[in-house]
Amino acid sequence: MVHADSSTFNSGVSKSQAYEQVLEQARALFDGQRNWICNTANTASLLWHAYHALPTPSNQVNWAGFYILDPKVPNQLILGPFQGKVACQTIKFGRGVCGAAAQSGETQLVPDVELFPGHIACDSESQSEIVVPILKDGKVVAIIDIDCAAKDGFNHDDQRHLEQLATLLADGCDW
Ligand code: SME
Repeated sequence: MVHADSSTFNSGVSKSQAYEQVLEQARALFDGQRNWICNTANTASLLWHAYHALPTPSNQVNWAGFYILDPKVPNQLILGPFQGKVACQTIKFGRGVCGAAAQSGETQLVPDVELFPGHIACDSESQSEIVVPILKDGKVVAIIDIDCAAKDGFNHDDQRHLEQLATLLADGCDW
């Protein structure tokens, strides 16, 4: 039974514990539900509440969500479910951090967005960013995008857990 308490993270949890809870709750929510809109929407909520239960810099996450392969325009992403402020609607492959992840199929861990060539500043508050591609049969179907209002908001621990989440989403949704 889906319950709003799934988004409750105890303050004082470590980053690894928070991600383990995100993964566990996501597995439970995807059980019997394969719709990508439904599952990415709930995952955005889990991530948002997880980050805000953690110490700084994680609690300075100001955007957490998804861009999906645009079904109408080739090599373009379109905004999916997210938590945070209004964001760019479409992003071409190769443009910005999201477009780099979509084109390369590889995670982009960006400690300082100002140093990333072509970064798309949807929100000038964002200082660092991590973008993880979701790959289905070797092809990018969507990306996870997390922005932080502090520099160095993410490390390899975030990367490892978000890549696990990307695999879970790839397998647990019909894309
Ligand atoms: N900064 C991203 C654009 C998306 S927003 O951050 C939500 C980029 O450079 O691709």
